[in-house]
Amino acid sequence: MPNLSDQLDSQGRLRHLFMLEGLPASIYHELFARAESFVDPDTGGVRKTPLLRDKLVVNAFFEPSTRTRMSFEIAAKSLQAEVVNFDPESSSAAKGETLPDTLLTIAALGADAIVVRENEGGLIARHAPRLPAGVVLVNGGDGCHAHPSQGLLDAWTIVRQKGAVAGLSIAVIGDILHSRVARSLFQAFRTLGAARVVATGAPELVPAAEAERWGAVVERDVDQAVAGVDVIICLRYQYERMTSEDRSRSGGHESRFIIDAQRLALAAPDAIVLHPGPVNRDTEIASEVADGPSSRILEQVSNGVAMRMALLSMLLGR
Ligand code: CP
Repeated sequence: MPNLSDQLDSQGRLRHLFMLEGLPASIYHELFARAESFVDPDTGGVRKTPLLRDKLVVNAFFEPSTRTRMSFEIAAKSLQAEVVNFDPESSSAAKGETLPDTLLTIAALGADAIVVRENEGGLIARHAPRLPAGVVLVNGGDGCHAHPSQGLLDAWTIVRQKGAVAGLSIAVIGDILHSRVARSLFQAFRTLGAARVVATGAPELVPAAEAERWGAVVERDVDQAVAGVDVIICLRYQYERMTSEDRSRSGGHESRFIIDAQRLALAAPDAIVLHPGPVNRDTEIASEVADGPSSRILEQVSNGVAMRMALLSMLLGR
């Protein structure tokens, strides 16, 4: 598993971003403030600024992505960095070049930062020590292990809506078993002092011992889990990571765990609903909720750009 000591330098500053485990609250708050500084209060969009004018950011995504890859690209370009998108389908990865050799090659081509998505989990941190000093690695989602930039932008979205994570009651519902986002969120909520985090969903997709180790309470009854909460986070059923046996076990009964208007009404009157996307409409979340007034799904997407600007500018030392 990844070596946390490689993520922070000897003075506790962020050197790479592999996961949220071990990240001090001070770094979250610095990132939240930095992200806020990139938001134009008049338009709500991001302010362009030439902080990374001489830097090269490479996106190397070995799994599909819309939000993460595009928002890192928009973030880097908004900081006036050069951006290159590596395409595994048309690269030598398709001829069998390994991930570490690909990363070494991208670094040798002059990348200052490489944003990587891979499907095994843990590979990014494992290969970081082989890269030249000064080349920054950012985990853009690794298997079922971690999705730290999503965890940060989701936590910041909650902070922007509710003022703080501290003291909130939060329900996380859906395919927690396969969710790298859930693992990063549980870390963030613990560090930021959420009052209560409840994990719920189909029993075979909510690993109780693991969720409790991350500081969540497991509640099998979804109505009980969402009762009175301030925030509901829906997670996608990751059918592509399920075996055919898993699929036949969970297949068809997702509607028992869906967040629809009736369930949302059990939460606090001003509760907000998040989903990291992509959404399986009317499977884990009803369209009436995804498109309704409590939904903050598109705010999450927009906030992703400013948060990734904050991350890239912090990691590349400006
Ligand atoms: N939330 C998220 O990681 O979405 P993408 O797979 O589209 O990047």
